[in-house]
Amino acid sequence: MMDRFVVEGGIPLTGRVTANGSKNATLPLMAAALLAEGTTIIEGVPDLQDVRTMAMVLRMLGADIKLADGVLTIDSTQAKSWEAPYELVRKMRASIYVLGPLVARRGRAKVSLPGGCALGPRPIDLHIKALEKLGCRITLDAGYVIAECERLKGARIAFDVGSVGATGNTLMAAVAAHGKTVIENAACEPEIVDLADMLNAMGAKISGQGTPVIEIEGPTELSPVRYRVIPDRVEAGTFLIGGAATNGDVTVDNCRPDHLAIVLDKLHDAGATIETGKNWARVAAPKRLKAVDVKTAVYPGFPTDLQAPWTTLMAVADGSSSITETIYPERFNHVPELARLGADLKMDLNTVRVKGVERLKGAAVMCSDIRAGAGMVIGTLTAQGRSDLLRIYHLDRGYEKLEQKMAGLGGRIERVSE
Ligand code: EPU
Repeated sequence: MMDRFVVEGGIPLTGRVTANGSKNATLPLMAAALLAEGTTIIEGVPDLQDVRTMAMVLRMLGADIKLADGVLTIDSTQAKSWEAPYELVRKMRASIYVLGPLVARRGRAKVSLPGGCALGPRPIDLHIKALEKLGCRITLDAGYVIAECERLKGARIAFDVGSVGATGNTLMAAVAAHGKTVIENAACEPEIVDLADMLNAMGAKISGQGTPVIEIEGPTELSPVRYRVIPDRVEAGTFLIGGAATNGDVTVDNCRPDHLAIVLDKLHDAGATIETGKNWARVAAPKRLKAVDVKTAVYPGFPTDLQAPWTTLMAVADGSSSITETIYPERFNHVPELARLGADLKMDLNTVRVKGVERLKGAAVMCSDIRAGAGMVIGTLTAQGRSDLLRIYHLDRGYEKLEQKMAGLGGRIERVSE
């Protein structure tokens, strides 16, 4: 059954909404549970398709998993397998996060190569090179990467591209390596800091997380912990940008403003009023906002995961702007869909040039990936009149009850099952 959203747009989003725990932090934390025998408990976990997919991957490996009321219980005692099959990995690239922990705990791993993706090519060469440096033999066979080692040894690993996933996998393997591992040009994303913090709580010796140089002293014996995942900065950003695009006034609780500093700065530059506290942020945009350029970059730069929502905001801003994607140069599937709502957009390589229009008009449109879908939710809520948003299964991968949360802010949006 294919659900869709029916949206009556043009109503300012106003009020308070609570963000969930971070999807992109939860997924590696789940994989990290494989590193300690016994029961790991992760709190604040969102109920999402991607979390369920990762749970299936861990179950295939033999772990026992329950998710109830945001509390994920992972018992890895029986997790004796080392193979993650194509059927699951192709559904979610983040399944690759089991590679590091399997190598660390079992000395071997067989994980399907993730294959193609709507964002363009997304290779895993950096994950593989890092494991080789740590002493793994790697073979590629029939669509699988097979990693084997007798004993991991610490190494100096310098990434030439900043990668969240490769940094995470390297951290999870290096905790079992003998001696010191140094990761240079490590990802500084809050989700990586969260992973390193959980590993340290489990007994690892990691320092420098949140900076480009991370050091790991190994090996350490890891034990299971109870750990709360950080709030989802992308979900929070989606509500804040949605509030701004609809000329509303939105406060997000369970939000870390320090994780959204550049997004809040850009909203301020566009003319919105920003207020923040330790665990919340508010954006008010009573008047039409001004055009502001952005360029996506690794943290603390503007997140690529909020590029589509920002493009939607600029589509109704006063003036012309350009939005440049440097992480995934082909991540522009929302552009032709926004044009269906009446946006004036032109592609120029990895830049979209936007001429703001007074208003968008409702239409039938679709989601092509999680974040492009978030851009379209904001687009349809901003557009005057009725829209039908199709293929919302993409949104269900990454946002829990998005339509209910938007409706709680006054948006007229409902889920319809065919
Ligand atoms: N890259 C390589 N080789 C590698 C790995 C990455 O060339 O071995 C390149 C990628 O092609 C890309 C860049 O490095 O151009 C950054 O990719 P990264 O590895 O950082 O991305 P990821 O770990 O696969 C995570 C998020 C993405 C988010 C990116 C960038 C998770 C589960 N996914 O992906 O989130 O866009 O970081 O911040 O954490 C989403 O949530 O919708 C999503 C796509």
